[in-house]
Amino acid sequence: MPEIALTQAPAHVRMGSSIGQPLTRREGVLKTTGAARYAADHHPPGMAYAALAVSSIARGRVVALDVAAAKDHPGVIAVMTPANAPKLALDPDAKLHPFMFRLDVLQNDKVRYANQPIAVVVADTLEAATEGAALLAPRYETEPARVGLDGHERFAPQAVGAGRPAEESHGDVEAGLASASRRIETVYETPGQYHNAMEPHAIVAAWDGDTLTIDTPSQGMAFAQDRIAGLFGIEPTAVHIRSPFLGGGFGSKGLISGPQILGIMAARLVGRPVKLVLQRAQMYGPVGHRAPTRQTMRLGADDQGRLTALSHHVHTATSAFDDFVEPAATVSHALYASPAIRTSHEAVRIDTGTPLFMRAPGEAPGSAALESAIDEMAHASGMDPLRFRLANYADVEPISGNPFSSKALRQCYEQGAERFGWSRRPLAPRQMRDEAGMLVGWGMGTATFPAIMFEGHARAVLRRDGTGIVELGAHDMGQGAWTALAQIAADSLGLDLGRIEFRSGTSDLPDAGIAGGSAHTATAGMAIHGAGADVIARLADLATGDSRSPLFGAGNAGVIARGGRLFRRDNEAASESYADILSRAGRDVIEGHGSGRVDPAAQAAYAMHAHGAVFAEVKVDPDFGQVRVTRLVGAFAAGTIVNPHMVRSQYLGGMIWGVSFALHEQAVTDRRSGRVMNANLADYHVPVNADVPSIEAILVEERDIHVNALGIKGVGEIGVTGTAGAIANAVWHATGVRVRSFPITLDRLIEP
Ligand code: MOS
Repeated sequence: MPEIALTQAPAHVRMGSSIGQPLTRREGVLKTTGAARYAADHHPPGMAYAALAVSSIARGRVVALDVAAAKDHPGVIAVMTPANAPKLALDPDAKLHPFMFRLDVLQNDKVRYANQPIAVVVADTLEAATEGAALLAPRYETEPARVGLDGHERFAPQAVGAGRPAEESHGDVEAGLASASRRIETVYETPGQYHNAMEPHAIVAAWDGDTLTIDTPSQGMAFAQDRIAGLFGIEPTAVHIRSPFLGGGFGSKGLISGPQILGIMAARLVGRPVKLVLQRAQMYGPVGHRAPTRQTMRLGADDQGRLTALSHHVHTATSAFDDFVEPAATVSHALYASPAIRTSHEAVRIDTGTPLFMRAPGEAPGSAALESAIDEMAHASGMDPLRFRLANYADVEPISGNPFSSKALRQCYEQGAERFGWSRRPLAPRQMRDEAGMLVGWGMGTATFPAIMFEGHARAVLRRDGTGIVELGAHDMGQGAWTALAQIAADSLGLDLGRIEFRSGTSDLPDAGIAGGSAHTATAGMAIHGAGADVIARLADLATGDSRSPLFGAGNAGVIARGGRLFRRDNEAASESYADILSRAGRDVIEGHGSGRVDPAAQAAYAMHAHGAVFAEVKVDPDFGQVRVTRLVGAFAAGTIVNPHMVRSQYLGGMIWGVSFALHEQAVTDRRSGRVMNANLADYHVPVNADVPSIEAILVEERDIHVNALGIKGVGEIGVTGTAGAIANAVWHATGVRVRSFPITLDRLIEP
């Protein structure tokens, strides 16, 4: 039965009976029956359809649009261009904080990237709107597109990712390299990638005076609310967002995008509710992507295979008009002990939509390079790659010198290696073949991702009948948040899961914080935990202060909440039901509130990361260079596992994205036009079932008493880290060919 003990004991031991259960998705039936409503499923009365027209050039100006032709098309209601677009209360190019991206929302005729919105056509039907947009036949004044990493002025960014310094170091890297007995200097390249969530960005917007109701997928409703309110000059509370389910986000729905704002503007222009859904191709521009990187790794090691220096330099790209720099080198702070480490970033400005957080931003491309370089250094040192990693195991976070709040990486290495059969791996490459003559290779990579928390809030209510309500505007983007958070909610109130009502998914509920940075379960979970504890504390006051209660005099510290009853801690024979306590006190409900946020003191004292080890087997056709991942084993440690079923699913999904990174995904940009040429899911490859025949995730036990009271680290993104490197290393081990350019396609393998 669920239990919450109100004592000063470390909270990580307060494991109730819902936390830790491998429950299936609570909204699974809704989703499999089609009853779950996604943003684009909404059709308010009188709704019109909007279609975007987007630019086919990457830089210049729109000089003409055939608005008359579009307007003449039957069913077209309005054509929104810079000439008639509603003016905004805030310049969409203003940047008041780093999480406010500059948006292209028809306030001028400039084109800053391909696929930028240049007009919106609103019609009675989707077909009419789409045809109207096609009739606009834009003419441009075109300037040459700046494309690729080379030939542009490089600059050192002020910050990378969510605000880390672009350059960090400890020790003397050049001296470390000079003193090394072995050195490598290698360059790895990763391509531009697009989030490609199954659900495109969509919005259904309805104005009622200055009140706005929208259905739109969001990984951060409070952020979206503020952004929208600022642009339209209304109060954030006048913006009602419903976002119960997301068909994937991967970071691209973390900040409200230009097209979503355009949907709201179109609704204002025509005075009707409007639906705007991006076409797949239109998602390659205005809704973020992962920028390409070129990463130079310089490593030195001594005779024992211990690193003497590690330098990780990243050259990447951002847009011509905004700042987001992929923090690819930061992974090198956290992973391997070295007396000297230097990480640095520089960027160029090109004519692209602004890059954005995407599936382990920084760590995904950064660990692909670092784990490849570590493998190359192990080989240069004549050492098994696992032995090499253990020789460089970081007992404290290398660059800060802080102890880890917890780190079960050794156990991840052990359990993963054991399960995979790593000890049978020949040291030299090109030693193994299968019965069909395919080259077989084994590789490994270390996974890591920081344990982050944002800020979130929750409300809990206990009702007189002994049932509870827990509510917060949390985001289920497929990761299982509604299940995991409901489990935490049940334990927080000391109730069975069936006795609580979990309400979520709208901005009118308490702000649950961002579903990103793998931080949602920790942040929202701690908010819920706090709200439940607040309720139970108030309930305990009612009982322990009342001489008619069997709990009279027990005091808060001596009460346990479990299964809808409070028990004396020192004498469990004395107990009373929630319903009895409430009815005697004449109370219908007790309400409590809680917040989740990182403890700054703990964060300053400890390095907080989840860890893992990924082992990969590949088979490579010796004639054609075709690569198949035939086995993947990942072992991960991420503190408290709220729901092993959901967590395993997150790890598997992350590892599949790692396969995608290693072998499939790349945006190909036309150097002349600056357009992405494979802007569709036929040509932009992601793995399908046949690409991941055998994949396993091991949940390594880890207790963390510092990250937060529930001991929860994140699990959403770590799976992609380490995996791409493990596969690249396996390809090398199979073939003896080192491909340093991702994805590892057969042409690169045949002619690296
Ligand atoms: Mo994630 S890239 O923080 O949604």
